[in-house]
Amino acid sequence: MLATFAQDEIDRPTIRALVLVPELSTRDAALASDQPGPQRHSIQDRLEEAVGLADAIELTIAASQVVRITNPRPATLFGSGKVKEIAELIEALDTGLIVIDHALTPIQQRNLEREWNAKVLDRTGLILEIFGRRARTREGALQVELAHLMFQRSRLVRSWTHLERQRGGFGFLGGPGETQIETDRRLLRDRIEKIRSELAKVTRTRALHRSGRAKVPYPIVAIVGYTNAGKSTLFNRLTGADVVSQDQVFATLDPTMRELQLESRRRVILSDTVGFISDLPTMLVAAFRATLEEVVAADIILHVRDISHPETEAQRQDVEFVLADLLGEASDTLAPVVEVWNKYDLVTEPDAQEAIAAARQQSINRGAPPVLTSALTGEGFDELQSSIDEIVGRGDLTLRIILPVSAGKLRHWLHENATVLEAHACDDGTGATDVEVRISNVKHGQLLHHLEALGLSAAH
Ligand code: GTP
Repeated sequence: MLATFAQDEIDRPTIRALVLVPELSTRDAALASDQPGPQRHSIQDRLEEAVGLADAIELTIAASQVVRITNPRPATLFGSGKVKEIAELIEALDTGLIVIDHALTPIQQRNLEREWNAKVLDRTGLILEIFGRRARTREGALQVELAHLMFQRSRLVRSWTHLERQRGGFGFLGGPGETQIETDRRLLRDRIEKIRSELAKVTRTRALHRSGRAKVPYPIVAIVGYTNAGKSTLFNRLTGADVVSQDQVFATLDPTMRELQLESRRRVILSDTVGFISDLPTMLVAAFRATLEEVVAADIILHVRDISHPETEAQRQDVEFVLADLLGEASDTLAPVVEVWNKYDLVTEPDAQEAIAAARQQSINRGAPPVLTSALTGEGFDELQSSIDEIVGRGDLTLRIILPVSAGKLRHWLHENATVLEAHACDDGTGATDVEVRISNVKHGQLLHHLEALGLSAAH
């Protein structure tokens, strides 16, 4: 009854799929899509990306092609001639699943399934499937399921309205169809409620962890970027961690946190986040808002870009668009962004020279110089760390304090909240320690408070 894809059907790795990428004229695209945002990707790149996405749920791609649409139809998206042509192709290829790289209305999906006698999965459905397979934590899994149910519910309500309209529009006649839909709606509502309350529980636990972490004074460095840009590889190499890094889209769904000590001995917390993608359904952005809280709370944002990708510029704009959407009004207070131009090892001459020139130009235009890296070889990592170090260090102060033996608590506080650069015993025989510390501007106020309470002072 529901026009969505059953999990058990899609789990079989032998499913042969036909991938179609509709190419609409710009005016029609704007009318036909309810997704605002950039649409600058070339058709070839969209085709490759769609095949990549289908591949991510282990479908066997029987064929893939671009389908030009001059006049999008509300009932079937494609014109009737095209629908027939594709039906023949489906028959010839013997495929049971058609992936359409576009958002379909519930009616379009149902009509096409009927015409083709095959399952139809649109872009939102496809991304939901991938998210479903990638979620590793309980929270991630719940969020995906919630997004999935909301997707189903939106289809159900809309198809129900449609049925009602067909019957004359009053909806009080009842009948088997309506009863079934009512039952489905109730089941969906119950399940959504249950997941929401479970999510609230998980979120509370996370909030507790977070407030525990808030006591740790280390700045948070959030890694964002287009899917497959190399975020996890970079994260692993920087922190020596072992996060799944695969040549797969959305390998990372749940934020992963790790401590990183920089050259200056300053410590930061690095956070790896979900990859972004163009036309990420708004509903999914909302579902993952909680997962991306780390980005909102970050002190520095590392925007990892695949500089070797032909669509790198369009990908950058997509990420910036999603970030702005995600942060809403908070985007004014966005932390400094450092662009990491990754996969530099794949860039060959003369593009490499061009990239260097562009990086130089960008540091003039945007103020923050991008860092060229290869997360595979580690090239550019020293520069990246210095860049983080420099930003974290803005506003730091270096102080000298004579700590008497009795100031054990303050000594402990300093170790937790500042970087102790040097400490040696005073030669006045009192057992006091002469310490040199580096402290952030924010923590400086707290330190003055502690010093005052103990009748101590600090020298710059
Ligand atoms: P999502 O989880 O989908 O958001 O991906 P991600 O951005 O975390 O990418 P990931 O680190 O999983 O890397 C994707 C692919 O690119 C993997 O095959 C990596 O080995 C490869 N890769 C990452 N960085 C580099 C690099 O600097 N150079 C080259 N040549 N390959 C890289």
